[in-house]
Amino acid sequence: MPFYASKANRTAMRMLEKVPIFSGLSERHRESLSRVAVEKKFAPDAQIVEQGEKGVGFFLLTEGSAAVRRNGRQLKELGPGDFFGEMALFEDSPRNAGVFALEPTQCLVFSRWDFWAFAMDKPTVLRGIVEELARRLGATDQALTD
Ligand code: CMP
Repeated sequence: MPFYASKANRTAMRMLEKVPIFSGLSERHRESLSRVAVEKKFAPDAQIVEQGEKGVGFFLLTEGSAAVRRNGRQLKELGPGDFFGEMALFEDSPRNAGVFALEPTQCLVFSRWDFWAFAMDKPTVLRGIVEELARRLGATDQALTD
């Protein structure tokens, strides 16, 4: 880890290392991503993302757990290493679900602009996001037809 990395950077870098879509990045790339991360904490039941709002943040859950709910119906429970908010990264569309903390929960948050500036030339990161996005759209489709 670079000697000049701040304590907050170091924590973020260690977290990024554990997230599958970022774990293959070089230390230098994880360090540059950690510099634009903002750490946020949420109390149990707090709404992290609101369904229908215009979102500009991409979230990485680093501690705790959260529920993804669409129209009051739970689609998925997320835990450490999971990300959310990626759908709003792709277009100016409203959040397609709400995300709620289930316990004390911590996330690293990236603005859309910072995230794209970083990920634009990182095919493994983009592929990881697109694969998960396809899975989630399939799961949401399935939940809507059940
Ligand atoms: P976004 O639409 O930006 O904000 C709400 C988020 O909920 C969405 O991005 C996804 O990250 C997440 N989400 C939506 N549907 C699912 C699903 N079926 N499984 C897991 N996460 C989901």
